[in-house]
Amino acid sequence: MTARLLNYFAVCPRGLEPALADELDGLGAQSVRTESGGVAFSGAQDTGYSANLHSRIASRILWQVGRRGYTAEQHLYDATQEIRWQDLICPGQTLRVDVTASRSPLTSLEFAMLRIKDGIVDRLRSLRGERPSIDRQDPDVRVFAYLDERTVTLYLDLSGEPLFKRGWRADKGEAPLKENLAAGLLALSGWTPDVPLFDPFCGSGTIVIEAASIATRRAPGLARSFAFERLASFDRHAWRRLLSRAQEVVDDSVDTLIVGSDISTRIIEQAQINAGLAGLATLLSDGRLRLTAGDARTSAAPADHGMIISNPPYGEQSTPRSSSVPKMMGEVGDHLKAAFPGWHAWFLTSDRQLPRQMRLAESRKPVLYNGALECRFFRFELVGGRYRPRASASH
Ligand SMILES: C[S@@+](CC[C@H](N)C(=O)[O-])C[C@H]1O[C@@H](n2cnc3c(N)ncnc32)[C@H](O)[C@@H]1O
Repeated sequence: MTARLLNYFAVCPRGLEPALADELDGLGAQSVRTESGGVAFSGAQDTGYSANLHSRIASRILWQVGRRGYTAEQHLYDATQEIRWQDLICPGQTLRVDVTASRSPLTSLEFAMLRIKDGIVDRLRSLRGERPSIDRQDPDVRVFAYLDERTVTLYLDLSGEPLFKRGWRADKGEAPLKENLAAGLLALSGWTPDVPLFDPFCGSGTIVIEAASIATRRAPGLARSFAFERLASFDRHAWRRLLSRAQEVVDDSVDTLIVGSDISTRIIEQAQINAGLAGLATLLSDGRLRLTAGDARTSAAPADHGMIISNPPYGEQSTPRSSSVPKMMGEVGDHLKAAFPGWHAWFLTSDRQLPRQMRLAESRKPVLYNGALECRFFRFELVGGRYRPRASASH
């Protein structure tokens, strides 16, 4: 028997759609197609579970349960009557509906949301004699409706808490990157665990912890729960199989060197706690994952070659706006050229002047969004020529 094909949509930070499509391809997703802000794909029920468990780049996985044309609110109600909610929502469960729209002709999204909610509630009441109640804080089942100019698409949220919440973060640090953005940086850079990695502004450790999890083949969703576990259609056996397979492949014996440092001792202590909570105590204790306090202007290269991937402080993040960041980045640029010859460096920043400040010419600069903030992910080759003494001219 062939499994029924379901349609999904994986949401991700803008700029990471192609990297997410590659990741989903690798997980066995079918009909993978990038769209703005995410990737549509199809697959069996366990493909949806697998995407939640294994995707490092997605923020959320949605299951498309309905889609039809509309011109008026009544059509939204009608759309809900075509779906077998009784197979999805258990008796006594709570519900929440959210609507987003782009170019919708409807005047009130609030009213659109109410019509969709009424449609689901009425349908279940007529089938069961009882209606689900609404819980906006912690619903058992969350429905997302997306309205474009002509079409309404209804999705069930399979993730619950966004997927960048891996379940290990104890403290937020100063301005932590989201874990899925960190994973996106690692994917875009082409880093592999055999390449020494250094983050000189590591903060709470997001990039290095994500890298160490990749190196040890820890599925990002191993330590958390998902909304699909509450659905009436939940297949416990399929999920258990996926979970135990993911636990089996964790491999702490990997040969890797991953180093993070930060000027703040307090933040480094927090990063070390975070790494332990992420299950990386073995790598921390034998030095394959190192988290040390240090100034990026003077840090020693941890190996004779490797990759720097980092998210340095930038204006918008310093309060009050700090004029010393550009000066500091100039000193960091000079230091990296001298002390990290042959390394590749990638910096994520919203400050387009970073190459000028660091006196480095970028070889690439893909655009990424850190939340609403438009950023560049600058790539620099640290050729190390600048400080080489010139051969004296002979006549
Ligand atoms: C944007 S935050 C990095 C956040 C990090 N990616 C995370 O996810 O937590 C920048 C970090 O640079 C650190 N920092 C500022 N100046 C520094 C310097 N000269 N050397 C090393 N770290 C520095 C700050 O303490 C802060 O933690």
